[in-house]
Amino acid sequence: MAALKPIAKIAGQLPVSGIRRFFDIAASMQDVISLGVGEPDFVTPWQIREAAIYSLERGQTSYTSNWGLIELRREIGAYLQKRYKVAYRPEDQILITVGVSEGLDIALRTILDPGDEVLVPEPCYVSYKPCVSLAGGVPVAVETNAVDNFAIDVDRLRAQLTSRTKAILIGYPSNPTGVTMPRSVLQDVVRFAEENGLYILSDEIYDRLIYDGEHTCVPSLAGAYERTILFNGFSKAYAMTGWRIGYVCGPAEIMATMMKIHSYTMLCAPITGQKAALEAIKSAEPHVLDMVSQYGQRRKVMVDGFNSIGLHCHMPQGAFYAFPSVAATGLSAEDFAERLLFEQHVAVVPGTAFGAGGAGHIRCSYATSVEKIELALTRIKSFVEQLPKPTT
Ligand SMILES: Cc1ncc(COP(=O)(O)O)c(C=O)c1O
Repeated sequence: MAALKPIAKIAGQLPVSGIRRFFDIAASMQDVISLGVGEPDFVTPWQIREAAIYSLERGQTSYTSNWGLIELRREIGAYLQKRYKVAYRPEDQILITVGVSEGLDIALRTILDPGDEVLVPEPCYVSYKPCVSLAGGVPVAVETNAVDNFAIDVDRLRAQLTSRTKAILIGYPSNPTGVTMPRSVLQDVVRFAEENGLYILSDEIYDRLIYDGEHTCVPSLAGAYERTILFNGFSKAYAMTGWRIGYVCGPAEIMATMMKIHSYTMLCAPITGQKAALEAIKSAEPHVLDMVSQYGQRRKVMVDGFNSIGLHCHMPQGAFYAFPSVAATGLSAEDFAERLLFEQHVAVVPGTAFGAGGAGHIRCSYATSVEKIELALTRIKSFVEQLPKPTT
């Protein structure tokens, strides 16, 4: 019998997510407080669940249109128009996907030929680079740093530009740093993309989780609309991670190709989730505001707590992550996270899991109760206090 042939190189060589490793260890331990998870601790608001139950009771268990329910696409179009003054036609510019995750995948597969490069400012969401690789592209990390509040430096983008560069992939408010990008910087990024014929992929899944200032919707910027693919969804703002509903908007020609891939590989997003999303966008705004207000209070408790322990932490403007520096302890982010987990049973994610610029930081989610955040901070303080003072 001949030996089984090897699996695909690209898939085989994908790194294991740095987040997963910590979750696996934490899951095998007792009494762990996890600041590691990247999802709301709230349950989906009742009226949304009820709408889904009702739809099941009525026997709505079929496929939908490949594009998704037209009522949902209309609501999304009206929402984007009202909130950000961007106009997308529900018929051919809004595609309902299985989360932003599917959207990113099919968008990258739509625009990339093998070897095309995508500029990815880091630290960033763990899936961006693997998704580029799986689409046959080459992710090119562009470092951002804490000293500049993780702002994108267009000169750094320019320095990485080659004839193969095809797109830039950004996501603000940011997972993991919690920063939003100033409008002027985003406008510079758009100009850079315009000068070089690049697509902009903008993952705005945390757009509603903003505590200071306002969200900038990238396609609303001058010169952006024609080259931007916008991703958003229901996972974070409506506490609907398990329903798997997202959407992608963009120029009609690009959407038509994306739709082909979606229709062959996914057919459509699940109907029950779409019905739930429809209810969410129509009536759950008060719940969104309430959850945002609670995240806002937790954010302050966490950030003040880290700063009082001596772990410098900037105030994140959005999402639900704090990104304190652990440099003052003399430990690397990995050692800090690993020892904290084993010695004090608190799970955090080392910043290095999110790429360049994440070294010396840990990502801590405040999508958990104030009581748990306070207890975690007490444990972190004990951990830091017993460390030998680093020699300078
Ligand atoms: C920045 C970012 N984009 C996308 C996703 C995935 O979103 P979805 O649940 O819509 O697939 C996440 C989930 O953590 C995220 O943090």
